[in-house]
Amino acid sequence: MARSIFVPSVMIMMMMMAISLGSSEAGPSTYNVVSLGAKGDGKTDSTKAFLAAWSSACGSADHAIIYVPPGRFLLRNVDFNGKGCKNKDISFQIAGTLVAPSDYQAIGSSGNWIFFQDVNGVSFSGGVLDGQGTGLWDCKNSGRSCPIGATTLEFSNSNNIKIAGVTSLNSQMFHIVINGCNDVKIQGVKVTASGNSPNTDGIHVQQSSAVSILNSKIGTGDDCISIGPGTTNLWIENVACGPGHGISIGSLGKELNEAGVQNVTVKTTTFKGTQNGLRIKSWGRPSNGFAKNILFQHAVMVDVENPILIDQNYCPDHKGCPGQMSGVKVSDVTYQDVHGTSATEVAVKFDCSSGNPCSRIKLEDVKLTYKNQAAEASCSHAEGTASGLVQPSSCL
Ligand SMILES: *[C@@H]1O[C@H](CO)[C@@H](O)[C@H](O)[C@H]1NC(C)=O
Repeated sequence: MARSIFVPSVMIMMMMMAISLGSSEAGPSTYNVVSLGAKGDGKTDSTKAFLAAWSSACGSADHAIIYVPPGRFLLRNVDFNGKGCKNKDISFQIAGTLVAPSDYQAIGSSGNWIFFQDVNGVSFSGGVLDGQGTGLWDCKNSGRSCPIGATTLEFSNSNNIKIAGVTSLNSQMFHIVINGCNDVKIQGVKVTASGNSPNTDGIHVQQSSAVSILNSKIGTGDDCISIGPGTTNLWIENVACGPGHGISIGSLGKELNEAGVQNVTVKTTTFKGTQNGLRIKSWGRPSNGFAKNILFQHAVMVDVENPILIDQNYCPDHKGCPGQMSGVKVSDVTYQDVHGTSATEVAVKFDCSSGNPCSRIKLEDVKLTYKNQAAEASCSHAEGTASGLVQPSSCL
């Protein structure tokens, strides 16, 4: 009798110890935005609940999950600020859809919709971000005066960031921006907006290092991926682009003093019906910027207007380009295994700066056709080499 009572009570004590150890050391704390007042009805403003979840997650140093269940959650512009945040391991797990206000005036002048700044160790996964940008695009396309629009998702001055499995739909302006960050992994992202939506770049990276963009599908009205000044050690792999303006390094050289772009790998990409494929673009203005050590490898072009393009004479409206000559130095750019079809006769165009010719451009195994015939290549102020089968034949 005594023994049979003794044994279970010891077991209960051990179980209780295990539970208390578990809650203080192992399992993450989960903050469900619905428990904090959010409503997935598509019309109740849930901004406060998201901010409450963020401040609770930041209050502890343990791994925290901010969970958004299925449903449509209306969010105004929201700043997740990392200043004073104790936590270096916060995961947004999104099963539902975040919806921006349908009236673009509501957030159109704030610059950002979902904005992370000065954060460290944040992952953002799953879900749909619906920017509801069509009203603003119509305004811009009609030439009326309109707000500039909000970027859907931005990380600024942040480290150790993951964005995975996110769908961004109809952003007002850029879909995803990485600015001033280090160590960022973006994968399995889908960007969807109409081919005539203005300024809706898919993913824009600038002033950032060690960023990778993998396994993503981007269709939009501007660049699928744009790479701005100060980008180093960028890896892009397995990305499909179209509609859109291609993958673009630039615009560079708008400023006189500008950080350069270096060590960029763009590997295994497809472009369908895009305005450009692989592009480097700089303003025809004085600048000490540069782009160097760039590898474009394994690209397939289907009906692309400018499959391979370096354009150093960018000067919209022909204004503000004294001397019309770009100061940006473009060097060590390799195109390896690029093939498919061009929608225009000139499939390869190197239009470099007369003051700073492009140097060490390499073409290896490039085959681009126009209407089932040989396309053309055009070079100005470009120096480099060709090897393997190169069609159109190199003008370097
Ligand atoms: C270039 O960037 C890659 C990441 O994309 C990195 O692994 C590599 O070390 C970098 N190379 C140099 C020379 O910095």
